Formats: sequence, structure tokens, C-alpha cells
Amino acid sequence: MAINRTSSHGEWSSRTAFILAATGSAVGLGNIWKFPYITGENGGGAFVLIYILCVLFIGIPIMLSEVYLGKRGRLNPIASIRYISERENRSKNWQIIGLIGILAGILILSYYSVIAGWTMAYATRTAFGVINNIDALGATKMFNDFVSDPERLLAWHTIFSIITAIVVSKGVKSGLESAVIRLMPALLVLLLALVIFSAIEGDFMNGMKFMLYPDFSQVTWKTILIAMGQAFFSLSLGMGALMVYGSYLSSDISIPQTCVIVASLDTLVALLAGLAIFPIVISAGLEMTQGPGLLFQTLTVAFGAMPGGQLFGTLFFILLIFAAWTSSISLIEPMVIWLIEKFNISRIQAAIISSGTAWLLGIGTIVSFNIGKEIKIFNMNIFEMLDYLTSNILLPMGGIMITIYVSWLISKESIDSELNIRSTILRRIWYLSARIIAPLAVIFVMLNALGFNLTIL
Ligand code: PFF
Repeated sequence: MAINRTSSHGEWSSRTAFILAATGSAVGLGNIWKFPYITGENGGGAFVLIYILCVLFIGIPIMLSEVYLGKRGRLNPIASIRYISERENRSKNWQIIGLIGILAGILILSYYSVIAGWTMAYATRTAFGVINNIDALGATKMFNDFVSDPERLLAWHTIFSIITAIVVSKGVKSGLESAVIRLMPALLVLLLALVIFSAIEGDFMNGMKFMLYPDFSQVTWKTILIAMGQAFFSLSLGMGALMVYGSYLSSDISIPQTCVIVASLDTLVALLAGLAIFPIVISAGLEMTQGPGLLFQTLTVAFGAMPGGQLFGTLFFILLIFAAWTSSISLIEPMVIWLIEKFNISRIQAAIISSGTAWLLGIGTIVSFNIGKEIKIFNMNIFEMLDYLTSNILLPMGGIMITIYVSWLISKESIDSELNIRSTILRRIWYLSARIIAPLAVIFVMLNALGFNLTIL
């Protein structure tokens, strides 16, 4: 039975509005900053191919399950699952999914906001012409000097946290739809222009080859785990963000189509970012494996050399800040709504508590690049550890629990009416992927990456 409760926190104005908000959540630093550098670190083409397979066979089926939970539950992630469990006679312990999600969201936001701060700093530098005519060596030095200054990083992280808190305290819907509809196409256009610049000025052939030609000789289970983790991270899956956005979705809207559109847009942006960046990395003689600084170093060289690069680069960084900001809102929103609904506090108080927590934790990431470089946990610095824990463990764990819960334990009538998959074949394919393929693939990859050496052949 479709349950026509209306959401306690309002509804999207249309299907397009949901697509925009979900795309705003999905497209962010994950596509433009993280995807290129982890592709660079993990050998290129084969990694990209595995990533795309993960989006198709793991990401999209789980996305449907997650949006279903929000659309049916219509509350914060924990309460939604409690509500559905009551109706479906299932254990309330499944609420743990919501809890893992809230935790993952805040942990991700803690470092996400630091990197968004870097983007703000680079927007300012580009605007003031500091990067004009800079060469690869200069760009690398500028980046290294920048990240070795904890106070500067803290200042930008603080500014970004305050802006996020202000926006979130005003409520998600107001402004988000209209902002995404204007700024997301602009980001896409600038990204395309950057790809064209790369094609003319960079080593486009070798950049494309690096990104698209799969060389499986370097692929290990860890590579596959990272590609899979990136699919969860980039699609904003496994932590309740899409559950919250799904909870604003009015009940007559078909979920599958919307999910496929969001996943396609997200993947398109990541691939364009790669196409824009790798040719310049090669032509400027930068290292593919330089890690989190890759985007900033490469783009400074590109904008520094480009005619009109000062204006173009500033605009690009501003749009990237905006993309990071729409993603941050979705990272924090599950915790905010949970605090409001559970403790009956105001949105402003909830926004301050959530952003404050993420801000405090963010200090761990800041020091990972300077005074705390030597602090290592399992051979990773604090930033790397947080990233690994969230992308490669918490999000996939949340994701499989979501998909197992929805596809195995919820009545078919409810799934049929909420998911609205009209074709029988597609419905069967979704069941097969959500029940079996996605959970088994995630467990298999995680166990192998942990060293269990399972084989299927
Ligand atoms: N998908 C965002 C990005 O690619 O930048 C990051 C993110 C947002 C991850 C929301 C998880 C999430 F729930």
C-alpha cells in the first residue's frame, strides 16, 4: 500500500527539484577534487572502468533502496526506519543504519569542509592574480606552503563551516532548488571549457589514454575497494543523505528514472573533470600520484597560462565552492533533522551543534598536512584514515544494510507502489541486484581487501 503521509518538513516542488537537490548532493568535491587524484594514484583506466561498473551494479540499485526508505518513512533516517519497521513487523534494531549514516556524514563533513576551505583560498588567490603565469614548480611550492600553514587552513575551514551552518539553519529547501538550477549548468559549461583548453594546450592524447585505457596489471583488491568506496562517496550513498532528500519527495514520483539521471550526471561530471585535468598533469610534468593537491596544482598551472585565466579560474573555483556547499548541506542534514525531531530543538541550534562538531573534528584533518603529519593510524594520517573509514567502510556497510533491509524485508506491495518500477523486467533486475549482486559484491570486495583471499573462479 502506498502510504500518502506528507513529510513533516515539506516537499519538493517537483520531480526536477528532487533531481536538482540530489545532483547538488552528489556532484561536489568528490567528482572534481577526489576522483581525479584517486584515479591518478590507482593507475587510471582500469580504475575508472571498475568505478563505472560499481556505479551501475552497486550504486544505482542501492540508491533506489535508499530513496525508497526516505520516501516511505518521511522522517529523519533513524525515525524513518523505525516507522517502516513498525509497519512491516521488523526489528527496530535496523535503526542502526540511520545512526551509522549520521556518524559517517559528520566525519565526512569534517574533512570535506577543510578541502572546501582550500577551494575558497584558491578562488581568492586566483581572483587577485597571484597565480598568473605560474609554472608547475611554482604551483607545487604554492600548494605545499599553503597546506603547511595550519592557521590559514583553520581560518578557511572555519569560514566554510559558518556559511554551511547559516544555510542549513535556514532550512534545506529554501534556496537550494533555485541555486542548483542556475549554478550546476554553469559548472558544467566551465568544466567543458576546461576540457577544450586541455585538449588544445595539454597532452590530450596521453591524458585520455591514461584515463580510458585499462591496464589491469596494477589492479589489486585494494584498488577495487577504493573504486567502490568512491562510487558510494560520489553518489552520496549509504549514509542517509538521499534518504532525507527522498523524504521530501511527493508520493506519485517514480524513483528509478530519477536515480538513473542523478547517477549519470554525477558520473559525467567526474569523467569531465578527469579529462580536463590529466592532459595538463602530463604536459606540465606534474605527478599523477601527488594525491589531494593534484587538482589545485594542476588548475593553477592551467589558469595561470590561460588567456583570461584570472576571471575564468576565479569563476571555476567559486562554482566548485558552491558544489561543495550543496554537498555539505546534505552531509549535515541527516544529523540536523535527527536532532530537531529527537530533542525538539530549533533548526538553528541543531545546525550549530552539527557544524560545531564537524568543525572540531576537522582540526584532525588540518594537522594531517602539517604539524600532525607524523601521527599515523594503520599507516595513514588522520585525513587518510577518516577518508578510508568513511568511504571504504562506513558508506558501503550502510549501503548493504539499506539494500538488504529494503529488498529482503519490506513487503512487495509497498516497494511496488513507492518505487514505481513499471516494467516487470526492470523490477526483476532491481530485485536481483539489490538482493544479491550488490550486497555480495560489497562483502566480497571488503573481505578480499582485508586479506581474506576469497575467489569465485
Ligand atoms: N557526493 C559528494 C561529492 O561527491 O562531493 C560528497 C558526499 C555528499 C558524500 C553527501 C556523501 C554524502 F552523503
